[in-house]
Amino acid sequence: MCYSDLSEQIKAATLEVHERAENTQLMICFQKGQITRTQYKVLLCSLYEIYTSLEEAMDRNSSHPAVAPIYFPQELDRTEALERDLEVFLGPQWRSRLIVPAATHRYAQRLRQIGKERPELLVAHAYTRYLGDLSGGQVLGKLAQKAMRLDSADGLSFFSFPGVSSANRFKQLYRSRMNSIELSAQQRTDVLREAVDAFHFNIQVFDDLQKMLTMTSASEEKPKERAERVTSLMSP
Ligand code: HEM
Repeated sequence: MCYSDLSEQIKAATLEVHERAENTQLMICFQKGQITRTQYKVLLCSLYEIYTSLEEAMDRNSSHPAVAPIYFPQELDRTEALERDLEVFLGPQWRSRLIVPAATHRYAQRLRQIGKERPELLVAHAYTRYLGDLSGGQVLGKLAQKAMRLDSADGLSFFSFPGVSSANRFKQLYRSRMNSIELSAQQRTDVLREAVDAFHFNIQVFDDLQKMLTMTSASEEKPKERAERVTSLMSP
């Protein structure tokens, strides 16, 4: 391994913004084991929009030379796991109960755009989400189960990767695949910038979710319809 490896560069480029992501209110609630069902439900809704957009973009570009080496749908795809979790938490009508803030739409829009126009940047987004999920996911899943006093892992499929037997070994494989992607100097610079942006998108989603929940508890000063939809997610 050398410092010119993409996996090393991307980690270094996102170190600072990773710390900022860890310190968002939503992530702090997770780490303190204080995540509420309402926070978890709105997070699932946003993750669903993000992963459907990411995975559609990955599928559409699966044979692109900058995507093929890191295309692991069997091992990594989260869409179906999120569908199961949403059904557990929102019921069979979950599709009509999804509610996502503007920041989530912006993130998904960016994913769709690069899926169409700049597939070589997808690695930045796939890295940010999947390696993050494989790194903190197990612990966060346990903390969520405890905080919401769930008896089983029902509703927590998002955190489990049955196709990955060792997260550490898989991350090593993923990094070596990232390092095998051929990129021009300009493309590499753009990927590193996109990875920082990917973290910013996540931070904005977490902040918007918290704002949405705070505004709902403060009730009147928000549009009635949205307040009612969010409030309906607050029921157990
Ligand atoms: C890696 C903790 C949130 C993306 C890691 C690692 C830890 C960690 C300890 C290193 C694991 C290892 O080296 O084996 C946390 C905690 C978080 C959090 C406590 C908040 C509760 C996030 C978020 C994102 C993210 C919100 C992005 C959306 C990543 C990525 C890596 C990583 C991409 C892989 C770094 C690399 O090896 O290149 N995280 N994280 N993390 N995390 Fe997080």
